[in-house]
Amino acid sequence: MIDMRYFEHLTDLLKKAIKEVNCAEDVEQLRIKYLGRKGLLSKASSTFRLLEDPDHRRYFGRGFAEFKKFATSAIEELQEKYQKEQHIVKVDLTLPGRKVFSGGLHPLTLIMDEIIDIFRGMGFVVETGPEAETIYYNFDALNTPHWHPARDLTDTFYLDLPGEEPMSYVLRTETSPVQIRTMERQKPPIRIIVPGRTYRKDKPDASHSPCFMQVEGLYVDKGVTFADLKGTVLAFYRAIFGADIDTRFRPHFFPFTEPSAEVDVTCVFCRGEGCRVCKKTGWMEMGGSGMVDPNVLEGVGIDPEIYSGWAFGLGIERIAMLKYGVDDIRLFYENDLRFLEQF
Ligand code: DAH
Repeated sequence: MIDMRYFEHLTDLLKKAIKEVNCAEDVEQLRIKYLGRKGLLSKASSTFRLLEDPDHRRYFGRGFAEFKKFATSAIEELQEKYQKEQHIVKVDLTLPGRKVFSGGLHPLTLIMDEIIDIFRGMGFVVETGPEAETIYYNFDALNTPHWHPARDLTDTFYLDLPGEEPMSYVLRTETSPVQIRTMERQKPPIRIIVPGRTYRKDKPDASHSPCFMQVEGLYVDKGVTFADLKGTVLAFYRAIFGADIDTRFRPHFFPFTEPSAEVDVTCVFCRGEGCRVCKKTGWMEMGGSGMVDPNVLEGVGIDPEIYSGWAFGLGIERIAMLKYGVDDIRLFYENDLRFLEQF
């Protein structure tokens, strides 16, 4: 026999229980006991299904609905009341904070951006070219003789590309081929810099990496002189290393410039006094430069009787190493976060 006052009992029980509630956890226990999937209400609804007498069903149904309404709203009310407390309880103020990792720019990107800024200020525009370059642009058009050691298989990465003649491409060994690509497209005045990756078969050590970066400079116009080259390069190094820096041009040979010179700057560590790093000379080697060879100008259809130009190619890692005090070039390519995070 079913006790028709079942829901009255339940209501009394719940009212008592509510008085004893102290915290969010108590509320949750009540919710499970009365409204949960296996709770008292759920059990009562299984009982309802067993009733056959329509009067019983009506009476029980009304009691069920009333109690459900009462229990649901009472428990919701309690949940709201203890919600605040629940938040406080769950926050453990003694936990150490979580470290937030923020991304950053690679040191070579940082130095490259700075270099680009300086040259932009002097009226240069940025040009780019392919890293997989043809033999023509990488060597021939740059006046590089066939016997030149740079063409050697042991120095240069040759590529066999599908659909191309074997060994007709290389990973560019310098950014200089972009000089040719630009002069083919554009009439003077030309004033460009070319930042980019270059590749050589060098065994990695503290100062060599098979992949490294250069910035190329090229200025072609009427009446361009070696003095312009010296002034521009000096202004650049002073902007990057400080106003007390000087430059020195030593005669050298490059196939695509005549005359050619290597560029030295005042040692940034001893400021020219002579130290261990500069081997007591007070100078550091930074790259190559020169007046664009008339052969190169003719090759791209620029008349060397009317126009002249200069060019340079500087190592980016060298500048970054001196500027940031890094003593091993490989660090730039190993992607060790402990190193990268310092910039
Ligand atoms: N391409 C040369 C190298 O990688 C550097 C260089 C020398 C670039 C003289 C130039 C230049 O533009 O005029 O060793």
